[in-house]
Amino acid sequence: MSAKRESFGSRAAVVMAMAGSAIGLGNLWRFPYIVGENGGAAFIIVYIAATLVVSLPVFFTEFVIGRKSGRGAYESMSSLRPGKPFWKVAGFMCILTAVLICSYYSVIGGWSIDFLLKSSMAEFTGNSSGEVTSIFGKVVSAPFEPIFMHLLFLGTSAYIVARGVKSGIEKFSKICIPVLFFLILLIIVYSVMLPGAGEGVRYLVKPDFSQITPKALAYALGQSFYSLSLGMGAIITYGSYVHKDENIVAIGSMTAVSDLLFAILAGFAIMPAVFAAGLEPGAGTGLIFQSIPYIFSSMSEHLPIISTIISIAFFLAIVVAAMTSCISLLEIMVSFLNEKIGLSRTKASIFSFILCGGLGCICSLSFGPLSGIRLADKVIFDIMDWFCSNVMLLISALFFVIFVGFVMKKEDVKNELTNNGTKRMNVKLSNLIFFQIKWVAPIAIVAIFVANFIL
Ligand code: TRP
Repeated sequence: MSAKRESFGSRAAVVMAMAGSAIGLGNLWRFPYIVGENGGAAFIIVYIAATLVVSLPVFFTEFVIGRKSGRGAYESMSSLRPGKPFWKVAGFMCILTAVLICSYYSVIGGWSIDFLLKSSMAEFTGNSSGEVTSIFGKVVSAPFEPIFMHLLFLGTSAYIVARGVKSGIEKFSKICIPVLFFLILLIIVYSVMLPGAGEGVRYLVKPDFSQITPKALAYALGQSFYSLSLGMGAIITYGSYVHKDENIVAIGSMTAVSDLLFAILAGFAIMPAVFAAGLEPGAGTGLIFQSIPYIFSSMSEHLPIISTIISIAFFLAIVVAAMTSCISLLEIMVSFLNEKIGLSRTKASIFSFILCGGLGCICSLSFGPLSGIRLADKVIFDIMDWFCSNVMLLISALFFVIFVGFVMKKEDVKNELTNNGTKRMNVKLSNLIFFQIKWVAPIAIVAIFVANFIL
């Protein structure tokens, strides 16, 4: 990731880096559509609970493994437990998941570039609102345009990784995340005032617990891992750069809270507009790309120039937030190929580009020419997304918590959590956290995983 094997300069730098990795398409694109497919307010409550009870301990777990070992995802566990090849296999799974996620993540990155270009050509203004919601369908079902945009997005990210010029984009992303935050607040204000938006607000605040099925639980847990960048060793790698004086519990909690906040705000920006536009909340992957243009199109009736400016800024911020996440996903692969296989960074980046680019093309085509290939009514793109978040991330996270709960010495874990007993508050919390890591998280992950497949 950003620094070489050295430490971050300050706590603020660590929190910014972790929040930068966490906040991305997972919050803006994935969270709202998963909420819409799983019943609204009740799902959000379960999601918050899953984050606090399971994901946060998993976050601490990855952090402990990374900081204690000082290594990246692949080798960290095996270096703490030499002679047990199994932990290398678990590490390798992380890299595989990063490849898969990067492939379809960059397809959505491509859509975002496409929508950025469309907003700069004022395509969302002056159009009747009914029309703008259908732009998405036309974009993704075309054979070439989305593939071109996908490769443009992935290629730019790979170029940045190969050249090692990440600091530029990272500086830019530090501006973009706060800008995005204010734009989302602005969009919420506009969105809730649209005629018919009240229904959408009610959908987000009035829970209907009959919607909470084992499937919804699995989605809540998977989404929470996805959004916090857990389950593929990203936090292990970041953790390995973090100074021994830093407070793991404080950093983890701050990252989780800011990530939750962003996701929920994104829900409130999008869902009222979904209802106002007469869309289905369960419309799936395109939800944000259908509802946000509707907001800008309605806005343009009164404020044509301002709406164009805001829409450009909004999609630009999304592209940058997505690109920083894509860069760190690529970095997981590139540093593995570089350090373990001996490829130069340039060759490793080209290889990753070809691999993820190819897989991404298949995902992209699954909305057009390949839309006939389905499993349980899901197209290839949706199967990949589901398989990564609801299967791979859960399995890797399970390995991590078992490793820290049962393989590492409890002493060592507690010392990491409390900085050798010097953080008073953490000493008080450490028994609870250890209990969550050792028992609550693994049992919850297995129970949800099994229930999802059996029920
Ligand atoms: N958390 C990111 C998001 O919400 C996506 C992501 C998952 C990620 N795992 C990652 C980003 C690992 C960087 C590294 O969009």
